[in-house]
Formats: sequence, C-alpha cells, structure tokens
Amino acid sequence: MKSLKKKAAAAVCKGIKSIMPEAAVTEEEIITYLAYPPDDGMGDLALPCFKFAKALRMPPPAIAAKLAESFECEGIEKAEPAGGYLNLKIDRAAFCKKIYVDITKSDKPYGASGAGEGKTVVLDYSSPNVAKPFHIGHLGTTVIGHSLKKMHEFAGYKCIGVNHLGDWGTQFGKLTVAYKKWGGKEAVEEKGIDELVALYVKFHEEAEKEPELNDEARAAFTALEHGDPEITALWRWFIDISIAEYKKTYKQLDIEFDYYTGESFYTDKMPAVVEELKEKNLLTLDDGASIVDLEAYGMPPCLILKRDGSTLYPTRDIAAAIYRKNTFDFDKCIYVTSAGQCLHFAQWFKVLELMGREWYKDLVHVPYGTVSLNGEKLATRTGNVVLLKDLFAEAIEKAAAIMAEKNPELAGREDVAESVGIGAVVFYYLSANRMRDINFVLEDALNFDGNTGPYAQYTYARTCQILNKAGDFEPTVFEPNEYEFALCKTLSLFPETFDEALASYEPSVITRYILRLCADFNRFYHDCPVLTADTEQLKNQRLALTASVNRVLANALELICVRHPEKI
Ligand code: ARG
Repeated sequence: MKSLKKKAAAAVCKGIKSIMPEAAVTEEEIITYLAYPPDDGMGDLALPCFKFAKALRMPPPAIAAKLAESFECEGIEKAEPAGGYLNLKIDRAAFCKKIYVDITKSDKPYGASGAGEGKTVVLDYSSPNVAKPFHIGHLGTTVIGHSLKKMHEFAGYKCIGVNHLGDWGTQFGKLTVAYKKWGGKEAVEEKGIDELVALYVKFHEEAEKEPELNDEARAAFTALEHGDPEITALWRWFIDISIAEYKKTYKQLDIEFDYYTGESFYTDKMPAVVEELKEKNLLTLDDGASIVDLEAYGMPPCLILKRDGSTLYPTRDIAAAIYRKNTFDFDKCIYVTSAGQCLHFAQWFKVLELMGREWYKDLVHVPYGTVSLNGEKLATRTGNVVLLKDLFAEAIEKAAAIMAEKNPELAGREDVAESVGIGAVVFYYLSANRMRDINFVLEDALNFDGNTGPYAQYTYARTCQILNKAGDFEPTVFEPNEYEFALCKTLSLFPETFDEALASYEPSVITRYILRLCADFNRFYHDCPVLTADTEQLKNQRLALTASVNRVLANALELICVRHPEKI
C-alpha cells in the first residue's frame, strides 16, 4: 500500500496545485493524511480535505468535489467526494496481482526496505547476572532484544548482538565465599547454575545471622579485582558454567550472540574513562565517592567510583559504550532492559553528552514493563521466582500433550512441540505493547483457538499444506471477491507495519499484524474454497493469495522469533 499511497498522494498534490499553484502542500504531507477507512463502503483510502481548507481558502466539501473531477492515478479506479472527504477506490484486480508479484517474485523479502543498508547497530540484550537466577523477568530483554535484532537485519542493518553479562561485582565475592564454605565441585558440575544460585541464596541467609560474612565477601571481591589466581579461576569457572546453561535456553529461542563481553571485559578500560572525566572537570567528590553531578538536568548524580575506588555499573556502561563506538563504529546502540533502569540509562547517556561525545544521541534505551505469573508478582528476594528454563519446559510439555491429542500421527512431534510451546510463550509475551505490565497465563498462551502463537503457527501450517497439495500453479487473471481483496489489503500493509514496528522499537506491532493476517486468511479460507474452486482461474488466484500469505507470515513470525513448522 505504501507505493500506491505515494502515487495517490502525487495525484492529489497535482490536483491541489491546479486549484492553487502556490499552495504550500507537499506529497509527503498528503501521504500522512491518506487513511484507511474502517468500512469498505467509504472507499479503500480516504483523504480528509479539511486539511487543505486553510491553504486553499475553500470549504472541505468543495475541495473534495474539485479534486474528484480531475483525479487520475494508476491503480485507483475511482475518486468520489463524500462530504469533506475524497474517497479513493482501488483497482482491485491490478492491486491483487501486484501484491502477489511483489511478495513472491522479488529477490528481496517483501517489506525489507533496505533503510539500514551500510549502517551498523549494536544490540545489548538479555545480559543476565551470573549467579542470580535467569528468571522470567529476563524474558522481556531476551525476546524483545532478539526481535529488534531480527527487525534491524530485515531492514538491512549490520547487527551485532552483545550479551553484557553481569559478571563483575560484589556478588562474586559472596559466591566465592559461599562456595568455599558450603559448596563442592561435584555439586556445581552436576547442578550447574541452580547450585550457584543456591549457594548465593545461602550466603544471604547466613549473612543475616553473621554479618561478618559480608566483609569476607568484599575482601574476596577485592582479591578478584587484584587478580588473585585462585579466586579468578573460580570466577571464570562460575561464568563458563553459567554461559553453558544460558546457551541451552538461547538455543531453544534460536538466539546466538556475537559477543559475550560482560561487565568484567571493561575492567581495564575504565581508568581512561575516569581520567577523562577528571580532565573535563566532571567528577566531584561526595562523601568520598566520585560522582558526576546531574542536578542541573533534574537527575540524581551518576556514581562513578565508590569510596574504596571500585567502579560501578554506570562506569562500566560508559566504558562499554566508548569501546563499542571505537570498535564497531555503530550508527545506533540499543539497550533493552526493564523500565526500572530508565534513570540509570538517562544518567549515563547524559554523562557521555557532557564528555562531548556527540554520538550519545545514537544510544537508545528500550525499556519494558514487569511480568507476573498467574497474577502473582515475582520477586527474587522472597524466592518467588520462576526460571525461564522451567517456564519453557512446562510450555513444551503442555504443547506436547495438546498435540498428542490433536495430531497423534504427526512425525517429529517432539520438535514441533518445542516450537509450539516456546513459540506460544514468545508470541504471548510480544503481543502487548512492551511498556505494558504482563500477567503470564500459560493456558492462555497455548490456547489454539485464541489470539496466540499456536493459532498463528497453525494458520501458517495450513497454508503450507494447501500449497504442498497444489504443486505448481501460475495465476493469470485476478478477479478478487470481498474476502480476497480484504486479504490483499492486509498483505499490502506489511511494509508500512514493519516500518512502524522498527521506528517504535515495538515487536508487538508485528505480532498484532500477524493476528490480523491470520484472521483475514482464515475468513478467506472459510468462504473461498482453494483447491476445490469452481474454475482453474479461481483456483490459481486463490493459490497465489495463499502463497503470498505463506511468505509474509513466515517472515513476520521470524521477526518476532517464533518458529513456523510446516506441519503441526
Ligand atoms: N545485567 C543487567 C541486569 O540484569 C542488565 C544489563 C543491561 N545492559 C547494560 N549495558 N547495562 O539488570
């Protein structure tokens, strides 16, 4: 629809200039006014003419009438005035044919604008804290982050995915102390992360009774900072064990990172940052700690060094940003974290600005809301956590049970159950605007009859089944009925939907589009027999539409990291 809108806008612009040659109206502006009326009786595209009333000094109905008189545009069959609106009716046959050709006959995926060609984006996402549970609170950063990566790739950007692991800080002192006191090699080797988390939790319990443990932990972390070989080896081991486990979850989501450069990677890159801050007179001492005062910008100070000289989370982020700019020369660096970190990002973005790094403008923080499970808030402290891997395991199990019932004959049922179970979780998560707080109900996510991942996957599988049965076909003439045209219209909206999703860093725009496309397809399928259509021409036309839906659905599902098996 993007290209048709553009043509229609050019024709409108011409019409306006013929009414008043000097009218200050542009094609770009007109494109933004062209809207899709909610019901077809009002045309396929409507132009509200009151937008030009001032410039033309004419009442809107008169403008609409005047524009309709001389309107001429390839692809538009009719232009009719209706009150203050100019309603445009699309040449449906030509339109459907063009959609089919654009979607299936081009070497570029439909909707891939190439806007990012030659540009680089760094995406910092997932980034769990080693030794703390990887729980469903991390689902957001992981799937939103990866979806944004896919979206940028689709737009032609070169993308670099970075897992900024929380692998540095006092928690490692605690973990080392706990391991030495209560842990064992075998237990860690056998139970992996779960054992590390258990040790970490035990540390906190014991430290309640015996606060001196905190001093020991601090000392252990200082030893780590000074490169103590034994503690360093333990630390490395804890991280390797953790990464190995994260990778299992990432594999289920088809996520691969280009770098696992966690916070510790920037240890040797921070002194230069501190130096520069000093040189630029940005550091002030506050009760022994070094801070950048941000009062003038309505924010609390950004903490750079603790009283004991150790660095902090913001310090590492500043060093990491500078390193990434120098290394990758990014056009954009995107950070996906919970909305709880908004202030943190605003603060250190400001510090970079004050340091005179003009590219601070290319840093984008993408926040998201909280998640609860079956109405219960999750909290790490009280132990009320649900691990991501457990949630996935449960989803897969439930999906397998549903499929054993629905399609017991299906070959490779286990793999499909994994795709459906995980797809359901991801789809559900990415259905709502990212800032909305989400209440996760697994049964809802897995409802095959609801607006869910399984429903979308099922629709996709249906298109595959039809196309496989049909074999080769070549549509010639298109004579779309109402359902077919509605479907084409929705298909034609994919490119602009994608642009909107990308511009707003909002995968849910794509998720909602998928649901609309599935609904339109299923309505079409219900009313328009494909393989048993009355004529060969009709059959080919319907196969063409099915093939178009198949392509667009596959691409769209991929953009939101949901697998699309051919059979369910
Ligand atoms: N590890 C942090 C957490 O779990 C998220 C890190 C986000 N990335 C960053 N560059 N600060 O809260």
